[in-house]
Amino acid sequence: MKKLAAGNWKMNGTAASLAEVQALLAAHPAPKCEMLLCPPATLLAQMAWAAKGSVLAVGGQDCHAKASGAHTGDISAAMLKDAGAAYVILGHSERRADHGETDAQVRAKAEAALAAGLVAVVCVGETEAQRDAGTTLDVIDSQLAGSVPEATAATLVVAYEPVWAIGTGRTPTLAEIAEVHAFLRARLTDRFGADAAGVRLLYGGSVKPSNAAEIFGLPNVDGALVGGASLKAADFGAIVAAL
Ligand code: G3P
Repeated sequence: MKKLAAGNWKMNGTAASLAEVQALLAAHPAPKCEMLLCPPATLLAQMAWAAKGSVLAVGGQDCHAKASGAHTGDISAAMLKDAGAAYVILGHSERRADHGETDAQVRAKAEAALAAGLVAVVCVGETEAQRDAGTTLDVIDSQLAGSVPEATAATLVVAYEPVWAIGTGRTPTLAEIAEVHAFLRARLTDRFGADAAGVRLLYGGSVKPSNAAEIFGLPNVDGALVGGASLKAADFGAIVAAL
C-alpha cells in the first residue's frame, strides 16, 4: 500500500499560494508516498493544472450528496472531478460542527463521491469531553458505522482526527493513536473483510515536521491529514519526507 500525505488547506489560500505547490513539487518530485492537497474550491482547478503530470493529487474539502440541481453555493462530486480532483474530504469535524453534518449526510456525500469516481476521505474523531469521559472508541465506532459507505481499499481513506488535537498543537499519545488506528482497522475488517488491510488510515491533528516520523512509525498509520503545516511547502515537504 502506498502511504498518503494529505494536506487540507481549509479556508486558506489565494492564487498566490500556488507558489507553494511549485516549491513542493520542485523539492519532492518523486516522494515514496502519495501526495494530496485539498485547497479551497476556488483554487482546485488552478492547483490541478499546476500539478498536472506530477505526483501531486488534488482533492475537494466537501461535496453535495446530489449530482446537480438547485443548491446555491454547493458543489457536486462530479464538479470536483471535472475540476481535476481525485479525492474529497468528507465529514471533517469542522463541517460536522459548523454545518451540523450528520453521519447519514456524510455517508450520502461519500456515496456521491464514489459514484463520481472520487476517493472519499472520511473523517472521524472524538471531542475532548468524549475522550475524558472514556467514550472515544464508542464515538469512533458509531461515526465509522454511520459515515462510511460501501467501498473498497481503492476508493476509501479513513482519517482519525481527534477534535481537540486540531490546530491546537496538542496530540494524543502515541499509544492512544495506535489504539484508535488498531480499532479502525478491526472494525473495517469486520465490515469489508481482507480488503480492509488496504484502506489507508490517516492520523490528523497537529501533525508537524517534528512529530511526523514517530506518528508514521506506528502500526496502522498509513499517512497523515495535515492542516496548518500543509500550507507551507517546507513544512509539508518535511512531513512527506518522513513517510
Ligand atoms: O484536516 C486536517 C486538520 O483538521 C488538522 O489540522 O492544523 O491540526 O494540522 P492541523
